[in-house]
Amino acid sequence: MRIGWIGCGTHAAEMLLPALTRLPVTLAAVCDTDASRLAEAARRFGAAASFADAEAMFEAARLDAVGMAVGPAAHEALARRALARGLAVFVEKPPAATARGAERIAEAAARGGRPCIIGFMKRYSTANRIAANILRDPGFGPAVSLIGEYMTAPTYFERDPDYDGFFLHHCVHAMDLVPWLMGERVASVAARGFTIAPGKLALHAGFGFASGALATVVMGTHQSRGTPMEFWQVMGDHRRVEVRNVLSVRYYRAPAFKVDDPAATLDPVSDTLLWEPNLTVAANEDHKGYHALLAAFLAAARGEASDAPTIDEGVAALRVLEAMRRSLASGRTETVQA
Ligand SMILES: NC(=O)c1ccc[n+]([C@@H]2O[C@H](COP(=O)([O-])OP(=O)(O)OC[C@H]3O[C@@H](n4cnc5c(N)ncnc54)[C@H](O)[C@@H]3O)[C@@H](O)[C@H]2O)c1
Repeated sequence: MRIGWIGCGTHAAEMLLPALTRLPVTLAAVCDTDASRLAEAARRFGAAASFADAEAMFEAARLDAVGMAVGPAAHEALARRALARGLAVFVEKPPAATARGAERIAEAAARGGRPCIIGFMKRYSTANRIAANILRDPGFGPAVSLIGEYMTAPTYFERDPDYDGFFLHHCVHAMDLVPWLMGERVASVAARGFTIAPGKLALHAGFGFASGALATVVMGTHQSRGTPMEFWQVMGDHRRVEVRNVLSVRYYRAPAFKVDDPAATLDPVSDTLLWEPNLTVAANEDHKGYHALLAAFLAAARGEASDAPTIDEGVAALRVLEAMRRSLASGRTETVQA
C-alpha cells in the first residue's frame, strides 16, 4: 500500500511515522509546508518524494491512502480533498475544529465510499484494551459508573487561555474514551470549571447516559506532565476495573474476607487480577496504541474488517465536547446532539 503523509510536525515525527513505517507499507511521499521539517521527515522515514502542497502530492504520488497530523483547522479541508480523490484517510484527532466540520468529512467519506479513520489511539493502548475486553465480557454485567482523570500541563495554554487548544487537542480524547469504555453513547454533559490562573484550568465534567449510568471526568491544565496523567475506573455490580496511567490494570471482583480462613489463598474467580507490562521488552506492547491503531487503519483501507474509530465516532466525540463547552458557559446540563 502506497501511503502519503501530510504534516511532519512533532507528533507525526515522534509517534505516528515511526509506528507506521514498522507496518508493511511504502511511504511514497511526505508533505509539509515547512521545508526543514519536510526534509527531516523524508530523511528519517525514507519517503520517496516530498511535497510542500497536499494537492500536488495527491496529483503526482499515485497513493492508495493518506495520513495526516496537521491540526483541527486544516484537517477538514485536507481530509475532504483526499476522500474526494478516492483515498482512504487517517486523520489525527480532532478531525475538524467543530462537529459540523467533522460531519462534512463524514459526508465526503460516505459519498466516496472510502474509510476515514480518526486517531483515537487510547482505544488501542494495551491496558485500555484489556479493560474494555473485561467490560465487554457478559460476566462483568452492565457498566454503572466511571471515574476518570485526564490531566495535562499549562505549557500550551498559557499563551492561549481561551482553552480552544485544550478542549480540541486534549479533552477530545476523553469524549471518545468515556462512551467507548461505557459501551454507550453520552446523552448529556454537566461541566464546571475553576480557573486558577490564566492557562491553568481545572474542569469537572459529569456525563449522563440513557441507561442511567454516570461518569465523572476531571480534566485540567494544572499538573506536571512529568507525573502520571491518566486514570480510568469503571464500576459494575460488585466489580470494577481500573487502568492507572496505561501502566496497570486491576480487576476487583467480590472476594471473601481472608481473616477467618487459615487456608486463604488467591482465588482466581474472586480475588483481584493485576496486569502490568514488562517494560524491559523493547516493543512487546503498544502502551499508547499508535501501532495497533495504524494497523487497524491499514486493514480498513484494504477493505478488511476493522474496528478502527471512524469519522462518525469523530463527529460523536466533537458533539460531546461541544455539549461540555455549552455547559461550561450556561452552568446547566446540556444535551448532546443525537
Ligand atoms: N493522538 C494524540 O495523542 C496526539 C498527540 C499530539 C498531537 N496530536 C494531534 O496531531 C496534530 C498535529 O500536532 P503536532 O503537535 O504534531 O503539531 P505541529 O504543529 O508540530 O505539526 C503540524 C505540522 O503540519 C504542518 N502543516 C501545517 N499546515 C499544513 C498544510 N496545509 N499542509 C501540509 N503541512 C502543513 C506544519 O508545518 C507542521 O509541521 C494535531 O491535530 C494534534 O491534536 C495527537
